[in-house]
Amino acid sequence: MEKDIEKIFADTKGFTFFQAPGRINIIGEHTDYNGGYVLPAAIDKKITVGVRKSGSNTIRAYSKEYNGLFTLPLPIVQCEEREGWVKHLKAVVLTLRDEIGFHLKEGLDIYITGNIPVGAGLSSSAALDVALTFTLNHLFSLGLSLLQIARFAQKAENEYVGVRCGIMDQFISVMGKKGRAILLNTSNMDYEYVPLALNDMRFVLFDTNVHHELRNSKYNLRRSECERGLKILQKTFSSDIKALSDVTEEQIKKNKGLFSGNVYKRLLYVVQENHRVLEMVKALKNKAYDEVGRLLYASHNGLKYLYEVSSPELDLIVDHLRERDGVIGGRMMGGGFGGCVLALIYKNYERDISDFIEDEYYTEFKRKLSIYPISITDGIAFH
Ligand code: GLA
Repeated sequence: MEKDIEKIFADTKGFTFFQAPGRINIIGEHTDYNGGYVLPAAIDKKITVGVRKSGSNTIRAYSKEYNGLFTLPLPIVQCEEREGWVKHLKAVVLTLRDEIGFHLKEGLDIYITGNIPVGAGLSSSAALDVALTFTLNHLFSLGLSLLQIARFAQKAENEYVGVRCGIMDQFISVMGKKGRAILLNTSNMDYEYVPLALNDMRFVLFDTNVHHELRNSKYNLRRSECERGLKILQKTFSSDIKALSDVTEEQIKKNKGLFSGNVYKRLLYVVQENHRVLEMVKALKNKAYDEVGRLLYASHNGLKYLYEVSSPELDLIVDHLRERDGVIGGRMMGGGFGGCVLALIYKNYERDISDFIEDEYYTEFKRKLSIYPISITDGIAFH
């Protein structure tokens, strides 16, 4: 890293480094923008931002992995859709302006590196937004709380990058703790750390290497289907219903006739998945691993048949997991339409399972599968 920085910025003097991790989500998919529960954990794949004040009136920003050196004159006033990763930097600067009236007037040298695979559904862009917000907060003593850092990073993504994501990815990137997941209630931001006593087991990610181009627009579409359902519920029952997390499965089933087929399926999925998160926490606390497995597969089925965000690649991996010895369970993870399957596996079976699925995957799709064993780590840090 030092050598790269010297190559681009002449020397490393005065650089401070900030890190933000990607995440897995054990369960609770597409619940975070419906006021529901999620159960994510921060992972040992991170984005690192090195920064120093340059005394000039431009930002020079370089990223090895995400390609390119950008020179941005100050002040930053707009953010274009087609600007690649640098739009995240602009989005964060503009969000801080909107939210707290911060105007970036001093030039910066910024170096960005990381090992979160892009497009794999491990929240590389949330980690980048969080790392940049955290960096500016520290450098200019903005006094933001941890929750504000997460919220502003989410806002940057919503308002300027154009993805109407929930708060899960940013929250866990900020708040993650080694060896623990977080049960977060997104309707009031109450949270609780849940220890993961994995012992002879491990979470493993199977990355399909399929990154659907329409992922963001389909994500936004699912979100609007949920909003349509919510409006109908509010009109029919009460405006006290603030989010889908306020309704029960029974209520939805009894009133099936109110919704179009698609909206009905989306609502049913959300309320069932929300319930599964609490069941999962119970199962993990009781070390009831059969139940953990059942819940993971049930979540996958919901995402496949009701929420309709899975893909043939993700389904094939989950189908094989169901049949192998040494697997507790697995499911597609994140927004969907490609990305990763998350599996909980006994370590001494890991090699066999990975080899088998890799071969089957290649035979079926003529595409390489990437496999990442995961450790659960802390959230943002600087040094
Ligand atoms: C993406 C979003 C999250 C969440 C998940 C689905 O990762 O960024 O906010 O909605 O999809 O659970």
